Amino acid sequence: MDFYEVVRKRRSFRFYKPDMPEKERIERILEAARLAPTWANMQGVHYIVVQDPEKVKAIWNAIGQRPPEKFESAPMYIVGVISEKGSGMNANGEKYYGVDFGICFEHLILAATAEGLATCWIGYFNEEKMKEILEIPKKYRVMGLTTLGYSTKSKGEVTDRKALSEIVHWEKF
Ligand SMILES: Cc1cc2nc3c(=O)[nH]c(=O)nc-3n(C[C@H](O)[C@H](O)[C@H](O)COP(=O)(O)O)c2cc1C
Repeated sequence: MDFYEVVRKRRSFRFYKPDMPEKERIERILEAARLAPTWANMQGVHYIVVQDPEKVKAIWNAIGQRPPEKFESAPMYIVGVISEKGSGMNANGEKYYGVDFGICFEHLILAATAEGLATCWIGYFNEEKMKEILEIPKKYRVMGLTTLGYSTKSKGEVTDRKALSEIVHWEKF
């Protein structure tokens, strides 16, 4: 799939078939995340691949979104964590760990799309519960996770976005 096609086809999918994604596909998308750029090449993001059905269910509980059927069928998750010291700070005092996580995770999500897999980036969840379930050391922040699998429903390409004329400014705001 051409890069721009991947970008258009990536959507958020919330209902899944029971099939587990193939290991080779999972490894390829993790490799795409590995190659992402980070602050001073610090590479602070870690990925926790979760396929054990009991843990998958516990994670779904820690997400706890409505309606409850949402994500319930996801066969697996990839959870992204980074410590605050795993990235840098810019000249304005902004810590960049969230940015590094976002770049790496978007690489992962786009690679999954290129593999024909469905994802949904999930930013709303109980971080403490997530750390407990996955035995994540204290210093790490759980920044987000994604479902990974084959969607029961197909979706069209992305359309519901602002026009470029609303968000692009040439030379001045
Ligand atoms: C950082 C981030 C966090 C998100 N968190 C959630 C979430 O917790 N639950 C959910 O259902 N969707 C979540 N989404 C999916 C967005 O709602 C979705 O990307 C947006 O509505 C655009 O739809 P599309 O991805 O199908 O193009 C999240 C997306 C991003 C980028």
